[in-house]
Amino acid sequence: MVGLGPVGLTTAVAFAAQRNQVFAFDIESSRRKEILGGKPPFHEKGLEAALRKVLREKRLSVVHTMSEALRSSSIVFLCVGTPSKADGRMDEGPLGEAVKSLAAAWQDAKRRLVVVKSTVIPGTTDTVVRPILEGAKLPFRLAVNPEFLQEGRALEGAMAPDRIVLGIDGPETGRVLRALYRSTKCPVLVTDLRTAEAIKYATNAFLATKVAFANELANLCQAFGISYDDVHHGIGLDPRVNPRFLVPGVGFGGSCFPKDVRALVAAGRHRGAEPRLLEAVLAQNEVQYMRSIALLEEELGNLQGKRIALLGLAFKGDTDDVRETRAIPIARTLLSKGAVVVGYDPLAGPAFSRLVPEVKVVGSVTEALEGANGAVLQADWRAFARLTAKDFLAAMATPVVVDGRRILNPKKMRGVRFRRIG
Ligand SMILES: NC(=O)c1ccc[n+]([C@@H]2O[C@H](COP(=O)([O-])OP(=O)(O)OC[C@H]3O[C@@H](n4cnc5c(N)ncnc54)[C@H](O)[C@@H]3O)[C@@H](O)[C@H]2O)c1
Repeated sequence: MVGLGPVGLTTAVAFAAQRNQVFAFDIESSRRKEILGGKPPFHEKGLEAALRKVLREKRLSVVHTMSEALRSSSIVFLCVGTPSKADGRMDEGPLGEAVKSLAAAWQDAKRRLVVVKSTVIPGTTDTVVRPILEGAKLPFRLAVNPEFLQEGRALEGAMAPDRIVLGIDGPETGRVLRALYRSTKCPVLVTDLRTAEAIKYATNAFLATKVAFANELANLCQAFGISYDDVHHGIGLDPRVNPRFLVPGVGFGGSCFPKDVRALVAAGRHRGAEPRLLEAVLAQNEVQYMRSIALLEEELGNLQGKRIALLGLAFKGDTDDVRETRAIPIARTLLSKGAVVVGYDPLAGPAFSRLVPEVKVVGSVTEALEGANGAVLQADWRAFARLTAKDFLAAMATPVVVDGRRILNPKKMRGVRFRRIG
């Protein structure tokens, strides 16, 4: 397993738990040390216990070189990051570097299957991975096995996925991968390499579009003075409309949706397609967080000198991941309007402080609310959903609450100046 971020480490632990022998390597030595000590470098429910178990049983070995990772392995999973470049295109640099170091470490004549698990633009496996391995004259096979896990329930997703997509270069590769996934009971779709690459982008682009659609509809409902809840319920009763993933809020963040939609738009444009809908999805998402600020201003007027509690700093609940979290633009905009911002998150406080040090990060919801003139709920932590008027009225100077995720119960907000997106 090459690259031990949320995808690589969770997959490594899941394969080891399914009685495979896994050798895990990451270029960052501090990350390897933490994992070797039984501590995942990020929060993921159940992962620490599962990691400790497979380390104890010696099914997972964290190794310090690519050569050690390769020595006894017949399948290599590439799980390195595929970040955005400044112009939105996918940066294939980290993947190319990983394949180069794989090729340099591959000293024997053993035939290995190289599987791209990272999210890559259609064609990347053929144009980036294949030429490096061919140039080194290595006996390889290639596959693409995109990852669909959701942060916060990644281990669950890796142990029991709802589908497996296998892009293969021939029947032998298909046989090897089907054998690896033999204990997983879910539909398996076998395609060619670039179709598998495309399915991952299609999934994320569709989900991002659903979110942007929900946000737009909620903004329209607000303009018409209609409750989004009833409209959502109404459209959800149509069997062609799946009501899931249509909850409006402050927009999507995280390490996948924004970067993957940007990369698909940029790559599509480069090839002469005009992905106007996805461009609109990105544009909608870019400004959606402003709705939460507008609602605050409608209640509080000028925000200069106002103390605002920002509840939830991660990009969503159940994770400590702050990559592209909407808490960043919300906090920066509030600060630029002269507000004092006090933030709280059950896990992401330290990581967020490094990104926006001007926000005072405190250790509890109550501390964040203490003396606040307003509060914005940004991430859908389950614990936040249990907050009631009592919590806000007891601590805040003026009880103005903006629910940016529609998780609070409006019926329990008596006495609070309560606003929601939509
Ligand atoms: N995070 C998610 O929820 C998720 C879900 C599905 C798919 N994906 C995709 O999977 C891929 C990995 O995602 P992630 O969030 O785990 O990434 P990440 O950036 O958090 O982790 C990648 C890891 O790879 C390591 N690495 C980089 N270059 C290396 C090299 N040459 N050799 C060894 N290790 C190297 C890094 O040190 C890092 O620990 C990305 O393409 C992402 O888009 C992510």
